[in-house]
Amino acid sequence: MMSQEQNDQLTRVGPGAPAGDVLRRYWQPAALSDELVSERPVVPVKLLGEDLVLFRDNSGKLGLIDRFCPHRGVDLCFGRREDDGLRCPFHGWHFDRTGQCVEQPGEPEKSQMHTQIKVTSYPVEERNGIVFAYMGPGDPPPFPALDCFAAPDSHVFAFKGLWECNWLQALEVGIDPAHASFLHRFLQDEDPNEGYGKQFRDRAANTDIPMTQLLREYPRPEIKVEETDYGLRLIALRHMPDGRSHVRVTNQVFPEAICIPMSNEMTITQWHVPIDDETCYWYSMFVSFGKPVDKTLMREQRLKEHRLPDYAPLRNKRNNYGYDPAEQRDLTYTGMGLDINVHDQWAVESMGPIQDRTREHLGRTDVGISRYRRLMRAAIAKVAEGSTEGLPMLGEADLAEVKGPVAIDAIGPSDDWDSLWRDSDAARRTACSWDAAL
Ligand code: FES
Ligand SMILES: [Fe+2]
Repeated sequence: MMSQEQNDQLTRVGPGAPAGDVLRRYWQPAALSDELVSERPVVPVKLLGEDLVLFRDNSGKLGLIDRFCPHRGVDLCFGRREDDGLRCPFHGWHFDRTGQCVEQPGEPEKSQMHTQIKVTSYPVEERNGIVFAYMGPGDPPPFPALDCFAAPDSHVFAFKGLWECNWLQALEVGIDPAHASFLHRFLQDEDPNEGYGKQFRDRAANTDIPMTQLLREYPRPEIKVEETDYGLRLIALRHMPDGRSHVRVTNQVFPEAICIPMSNEMTITQWHVPIDDETCYWYSMFVSFGKPVDKTLMREQRLKEHRLPDYAPLRNKRNNYGYDPAEQRDLTYTGMGLDINVHDQWAVESMGPIQDRTREHLGRTDVGISRYRRLMRAAIAKVAEGSTEGLPMLGEADLAEVKGPVAIDAIGPSDDWDSLWRDSDAARRTACSWDAAL
């Protein structure tokens, strides 16, 4: 249990908030590249409580600036995209990608007032389908060489979805390996051959056992957590009576991402990005170590469950997530359909906009969550001193060496579990068509 003050410290993200200051030291997903594929690539972005507008100028370069015109406050999302910048439709003030006002066509001809007007702007970089923004002080850090950035565009698919809750509870469902045996339980197994692009629908590792069966039959994982150069590695062991164990390796990538296996071929790197204190987007990069990803199919699958332009899920608290008691009796643990994203969404949204952690009781399976909070508290203390020393991926470590991380399922002899996952991962990387070497 924690105090209200401790909960606020870990969850709030606006400018000057302790956790927000830590998040601002890292590149943050701001939009999908797909959102800018239109006649007029200008989209509103709300990130860490700040209202911004993201646009591609006439020369194809990206800008991310304050959403509201510094003249009299109108919405620049309706700006005219001209002359390598955005022009406010109210009185024609013109802003370039750096937020500098470069023209005020209604002011007297000799006026130099525009040189004094500059709005907030943040550096942006596009990587494999996601536009990232850096909202912190000084120069942005380099990108680490994680698989999602190292893989070629053909092997990465990116998507996002809105969750109506604080980012931390969204993240914490991803570092809780025990919940998959319950929340995502299927009372019947589907044909794994029908599982492309879906979580937990493949066979478990190199066996014929559907993942759904394995999770259902072994609900008490032994969970080990270790600190790494990128955050935390979580190892969930499910010991089977025949002397074998299932090993599932997942990760917390600091500050607010996870990296988990999706199928034998694909992993997911997923950020839980605060829009503000009470809403967040998950941004996922699905990385294939096998065939190029079928982006059309994966996008179609997900667009069936989300509405545009805000990527809000069609199943949500206003329609009880499609809850069906008959389905809960016969088919799924939640009664909320087969899409596991909806299960996670219900779990994290039903806690309320910001989970009241003064009333929680963490158990042994929550070890990843307590370790993460400890890491975040240490980072908050450092950043409050004006330092980033010792923060994952910001210190002396050569970011080109921060690779992977390993996210995999494997099954083999229980006494050999530690080499099992390393060997399975090494084999997958050796066979990979792009350079996935660690
Ligand atoms: S409000 Fe934008 S130019 Fe006047
Ligand atoms: Fe989940």
